[in-house]
Amino acid sequence: MASLVDVHTHVYLPRYASWLRSRSIAPRILVNEAGEERLLILENETSAGRPVGPSYWDRNAKLSFMDQHGIDISVVSFANPWLDFLSPPDAESLAQDLNTDLEDYCATSPTLSFSSLKRIYGLGLLPLVPGISISSVLETVSQIAKAPHLKGLIMGTKGLGKGLDDDTLDPVWQAIEDNGLVVFLHPHYGVDSSAWGEKENGHVLPLALGFPFETTTAITRFILSGAFDRFPSIKILLAHSGGTLPQLSSRLASCIDHDPIVASRLKHDARFYLGKLWFDAVAYGPEELAFVSEIISRAGRYESGTSNTKAIADRKEGSKRILFGTDHPFFPPLSSSEKWKSVVENLEAIESVSGWGEVEQKGVSAGNALGFFGIQ
Ligand code: URA
Ligand code: ZN
Repeated sequence: MASLVDVHTHVYLPRYASWLRSRSIAPRILVNEAGEERLLILENETSAGRPVGPSYWDRNAKLSFMDQHGIDISVVSFANPWLDFLSPPDAESLAQDLNTDLEDYCATSPTLSFSSLKRIYGLGLLPLVPGISISSVLETVSQIAKAPHLKGLIMGTKGLGKGLDDDTLDPVWQAIEDNGLVVFLHPHYGVDSSAWGEKENGHVLPLALGFPFETTTAITRFILSGAFDRFPSIKILLAHSGGTLPQLSSRLASCIDHDPIVASRLKHDARFYLGKLWFDAVAYGPEELAFVSEIISRAGRYESGTSNTKAIADRKEGSKRILFGTDHPFFPPLSSSEKWKSVVENLEAIESVSGWGEVEQKGVSAGNALGFFGIQ
């Protein structure tokens, strides 16, 4: 039995990296004056960019990172900004080609020494750009569903340009639900950068605050559109432990109750829908994991008026929807050190959640992911 499964780990496959190298505006990979490649993908990123290398595209680098940190299986997803910047024809053909590449990357990965499972499975992507035909998106959903080693898809927050509450997406959600595919919802844009002021703070504010808030807004709009009532079995995994949705869910429920436009739209109290989501454990602290697990377990009880709190039991129950992740190859160590702090912190957090015992720790580390993605 695998003891560590990483559900939040990215790749820029060689075909995508070549595309980025061919571009003269962001997103792009450029070569700096020292002859080193740099990645420029975030808004307002300085022309210095961030170092980029084999850990982004080389499967052997991914496998040695996994070995170094005791990760048995990775569910690899494409990194932001996916195909968002492309024209519909380019997005359509690149999506098909990249999904084929990713299936091959997984299918030819080694198997575990103690089981016939592969060490790498994947999440494909869809050509979600303004102006694309829904039939083309649906064809790509079918392609992913037929690929034996792809277990779902990663998606940004823009949809077809109007966000995830766009009714035009309903056939896409339906196809995703029908095929039992996982949607990994991941941020890229953050929030309006004027919120960050004038002090130079590097990437800290957009990554620490902007990313989670973008995810929060996107999934909240999805919930408010009633999509969970129309697609009750859809499997959505939220990046970075759900952003700030767990912290704001009771406020959200209250605002809905007091708003005549939305009050009668949803079948359930807003907190109910948190109990239908899955959350990665990329939170870097045990208190945050404790909180998320407690909140999501209680989510369904608010409607019945039995929100009596049983913190430890709730944390144990909620842990079943939380899954270990690393965000590799992002957040590498600033200086060369044996293990990546970003990984070690997330592992230590899982081990230190008050109320989680061995069963919960094992579930969050591996078992939940195997069940959720149907890796067997
Ligand atoms: N930075 C990114 O651009 N993407 C991630 O997934 C993490 C950090
Ligand atoms: Zn990520």
